[in-house]
Amino acid sequence: MVGKRGIAITDTKQNTGRLQAQDPGRTAPTKIPSFTLTEQIAALRPELDAAWARVVDSGQFIQGPEVAALESEAATLIGGGVTAIGVASGSDALYLALSALGVGPGDDVITTPFTFFATAGSILRTGARPVFADIDRDTFNLDTAGALARVTPRTRAILPVHLFGLMADLTTMARQFPGPIVEDAAQAILASRDGRVAGAVGALGCFSFFPTKNWGAFGDAGLVTTRDPALADQVKMLARHGARQKYYHEAPGINSRLDALQAAVLRVKLRHVAEWTTARQALAARYAEGLADAGLAEWVTPQAVPPGAQHVYHQYTVRAQARDALAAHLGAAGIGTTVYYPHALHLMPALAAVGVGAGAFPEAERLTQEALALPLFPELAPAAVDRVVDAVAAFYRGRA
Ligand SMILES: Cc1ncc(COP(=O)(O)O)c(C=O)c1O
Repeated sequence: MVGKRGIAITDTKQNTGRLQAQDPGRTAPTKIPSFTLTEQIAALRPELDAAWARVVDSGQFIQGPEVAALESEAATLIGGGVTAIGVASGSDALYLALSALGVGPGDDVITTPFTFFATAGSILRTGARPVFADIDRDTFNLDTAGALARVTPRTRAILPVHLFGLMADLTTMARQFPGPIVEDAAQAILASRDGRVAGAVGALGCFSFFPTKNWGAFGDAGLVTTRDPALADQVKMLARHGARQKYYHEAPGINSRLDALQAAVLRVKLRHVAEWTTARQALAARYAEGLADAGLAEWVTPQAVPPGAQHVYHQYTVRAQARDALAAHLGAAGIGTTVYYPHALHLMPALAAVGVGAGAFPEAERLTQEALALPLFPELAPAAVDRVVDAVAAFYRGRA
């Protein structure tokens, strides 16, 4: 089918999507990247140029009005009565949140083995011991009952991850665990569950502004949120060399500040996070419908979304049979995919001291062999989603 200006339409459904450009006279379809910021940056370029010019002209690169404004706007965006504190990265956010609670040597923190390393790495940084529990087969998040079963008198906190943008079950966890819950909300800006928003449920919430995140900076940056003013004050103190007053150091804190330039970029992007999230959700719904219509349930299962959860789809991750062969097939068709995560944390050398061997967490270990993230970013054309679904279907038809 050929649309306006000689552009071929690869949309297999009705022409509800944008057009997929093809070079006339060639058969190779346009590549579909796993992720790209190119269109987003191009659209925001004039606003971004103005924002960083404002910072350069102000001469204020550390703290100052840009960071204060970002913190206040982030707290409003997240809601739930939180205070937001800008820090240097999501990894620092986790370390500072745990440190603010006094987590340290001799303590255990329960978490998931199926996440980015920084989750467990932040526990190690405090001197505490990560204690893993397996994940739930359907949601890929920390299994609540499994986590609660590992609580002992040494347990100082639970650190669930809202994986790929789906909130973990904090409601049940909070009901049964009397200690603090720290949310690893690095991938979950604006996610909610049971009417409560990520970052405003646990004692503290930790966000990452890594450039590929749903709300990303142009470098490293992060945010800690809390509804407790005393904890907010403690995080701020620890992130500023342990000082509340200049040159008077109360604790061995660290230097973890969000740069004014990153704050200016994030303030531009903040105005679009809600609409980008809606776009991600619409694309995810299209994937779900397309995969269901293609009758692939035997081979491909998307991350399950429990009732009451608003998934923000940082990634659209499926559990796929013959995952690596599928990824190679999609790659050959010009479709990018990514494996998050190829290794469970308890099996990594950096966590060998935790002393848990292969087979300890079968669901997490199995998912490292089956998880595949399909292309997803707000500017992705709906027609591209259809093309991915068609390519996935063709792969399994070829094996049937
Ligand atoms: C689940 C999770 N936790 C922690 C982090 C660490 O964030 P950052 O890269 O900003 O340090 C990330 C992101 O990279 C993440 O995805």
